[in-house]
Amino acid sequence: MNVLVTGGAGYIGSHTVLCLLNEGYHVIVLDNLCNSSVEAIKRVEQLTQQSVTFIEGDVCNKQHLENVFTKHKVDCVIHFAALKAVGESALQPLKYHHNNVSGSINLLSCMAKHQVNQFIFSSSATVYGEQNPYPYIETMPLGTPSSPYGTTKMIVERVLEDNNKANVDFKAISLRYFNPIGAHPSGEIGEDPSGIPNNLLPFVAQVAVGKREKLTVFGDDYPTPDGTCLRDYLHVMDLAEGHVAALNWLKQQTTLDEVAVFNLGTGTGTSVLNIIRAFETETGKPVPYEVANRREGDLPAFWANADKAKQVLKWQAKRDINAMMQDTWRWQSNNPDGYSK
Ligand SMILES: NC(=O)c1ccc[n+]([C@@H]2O[C@H](COP(=O)([O-])OP(=O)(O)OC[C@H]3O[C@@H](n4cnc5c(N)ncnc54)[C@H](O)[C@@H]3O)[C@@H](O)[C@H]2O)c1
Repeated sequence: MNVLVTGGAGYIGSHTVLCLLNEGYHVIVLDNLCNSSVEAIKRVEQLTQQSVTFIEGDVCNKQHLENVFTKHKVDCVIHFAALKAVGESALQPLKYHHNNVSGSINLLSCMAKHQVNQFIFSSSATVYGEQNPYPYIETMPLGTPSSPYGTTKMIVERVLEDNNKANVDFKAISLRYFNPIGAHPSGEIGEDPSGIPNNLLPFVAQVAVGKREKLTVFGDDYPTPDGTCLRDYLHVMDLAEGHVAALNWLKQQTTLDEVAVFNLGTGTGTSVLNIIRAFETETGKPVPYEVANRREGDLPAFWANADKAKQVLKWQAKRDINAMMQDTWRWQSNNPDGYSK
């Protein structure tokens, strides 16, 4: 079975490509490398001893897509390609809508033209918005996301629903990720943010390796046990395996009456301070930090109800916070400058 993975050179994509290859899938990656390096693909090939068909191209470019679907027989698409910086999305919303929404529509249109009907979409817990109480469960209505980035995810979920109603052959899954962290246990692939990291763990790791002086904790006066935000951190390898479980399930379904939605999380919340402490304990590296004001749009706490993925996909996050810290550190300390060493 041939799987087209858009954004497959990125953080979650590269780990998923590795798991797909290990499961015997043939993988074609389409990535414009705007936030990644082809080195990630090379390392996946080394780790798996298998080859990936890599195409440098853009989902916003209809000709690039047409070339891929004309040249390769594609059975399923896993669509990671997106811009994901929440803060930047507030400053440049059109860039985000163009890349994430128009890019997805181009891809779906090209799939329809070539009669490719299986689709797995990288959605996010942000689509639950501020109104829904946690733990978030898939039966809740879509909320109002706190950023244009989140809005793009919500819009694509709606586009998928409409497309599903109009085309009986179309089978789609939206996977709502919580907070992926960690790296492959080899330390060969991991998260390699360009510039100042937007997410907690890459920042923590860069402080520990000496690239940054200290971490800023945004707010310690939230109504949570230690005053810092609680999030549902899951190991990126668990998340990658969740995609394989989703694909294995999707190909067994003859039709889907509606888009299948699954939370991929652990079902527990961990505070920012607990993450810092766990990192220090597991690595022996101090992480100096200072507390600053709350960041606009940050919710005090949320985590997943992860029951549906367990029941239906037979998938469950297995790795604990300690493994997430050890694997992050192995990646960061072996690759202080990410892939560009
Ligand atoms: N990392 C998270 O915390 C998180 C949480 C929820 C959802 N997601 C979603 O998961 C997906 C993957 O996230 P990630 O953390 O691996 O991000 P990433 O930036 O590491 O990976 C995204 C990849 O897509 C590529 N890309 C972006 N726009 C493209 C385009 N127009 N054409 C072709 N390639 C393009 C980038 O070069 C990159 O390789 C994204 O859709 C993201 O929104 C991520």
